[in-house]
Amino acid sequence: MATTESIEQRYAVFGHPIAHSLSPRIHTLFAAQTEQHTMSYTAVDVSEDQFETAINDFYQQGGLGLNCTVPLKLLAFQRADLLSQRAQRCGAVNTLSFKGDGTILGDNTDGVGLLRDITHNQNVPIRDTKLLILGAGGATRGILEPLLQEDPQQIVIANRTVEKALSLAELFNDLGNVIGCGYDALDGQSFDLIINATAASLHNQLPPLPDTALKPNGNCYDLAYGAQPTPFVKWGQQHGATISVDGLGMLIEQAAEAFLIWRGVRPNTQSMIQDDSFRHN
Ligand code: ATR
Repeated sequence: MATTESIEQRYAVFGHPIAHSLSPRIHTLFAAQTEQHTMSYTAVDVSEDQFETAINDFYQQGGLGLNCTVPLKLLAFQRADLLSQRAQRCGAVNTLSFKGDGTILGDNTDGVGLLRDITHNQNVPIRDTKLLILGAGGATRGILEPLLQEDPQQIVIANRTVEKALSLAELFNDLGNVIGCGYDALDGQSFDLIINATAASLHNQLPPLPDTALKPNGNCYDLAYGAQPTPFVKWGQQHGATISVDGLGMLIEQAAEAFLIWRGVRPNTQSMIQDDSFRHN
């Protein structure tokens, strides 16, 4: 008779630090909701220098799929044998799938998760709007393609290190009107939607945004999330944003997309998105 262990279908998230990750809770609820009772999902603390060994061990133990988060998305990109088109474009992987022959498929569900939260859950349109993205690191790379595919009028990327904003804009300008600049260049401009993709919230800081950057009835979205509103979410609330939210919805939606890749079924995310207890893991 098969033991529970032998039929367990194993998934995990690798990252460092990982102790406070919400992903095990999210995927365990998705598994229960879709009646995939043999699925398990754990969080494993893996640093960059442990990645290769950890991934090999996981596969040897029968692992079927992995999420990779900070600081491993670039390593996951390099490790994958085959890449989805969207992972290729953004140069980062957050979802790995292990095939029976040992092939590892790499995908990136961050951008589509953000887009679904903004346009579907928050009902904020992108088409023909003027967007400002703060930051020009890996997080911005991951979201540019799906945002540009929605045909905004323009995307401006502002970054402290201006050259990074300029080179990212150049890399994506075949997909639409996207320009890079420093924060000084934002004076006198205003935007329908401002997305904070900097690491500032992680340090409880606010990027140097001019007070006039948000149009009346504009919206603010922070990719970071936490138990309390981030400094950027508060900035949006104080500057008249219709919606000013953090990235918890994106986290849940990117997880749902990963679950779909692995299990062939897209879980319902609505009850989770509305459940505020998620902020207090
Ligand atoms: P990630 O992969 O999360 O995007 P990253 O590649 O290290 O991380 O990029 C972090 C981004 O946050 C960068 O755009 C960084 O700006 P610089 O390129 O000028 O360093 C930005 N950033 C970090 N802290 C910030 C702060 N306090 N204010 C504004 N931008 C900040």
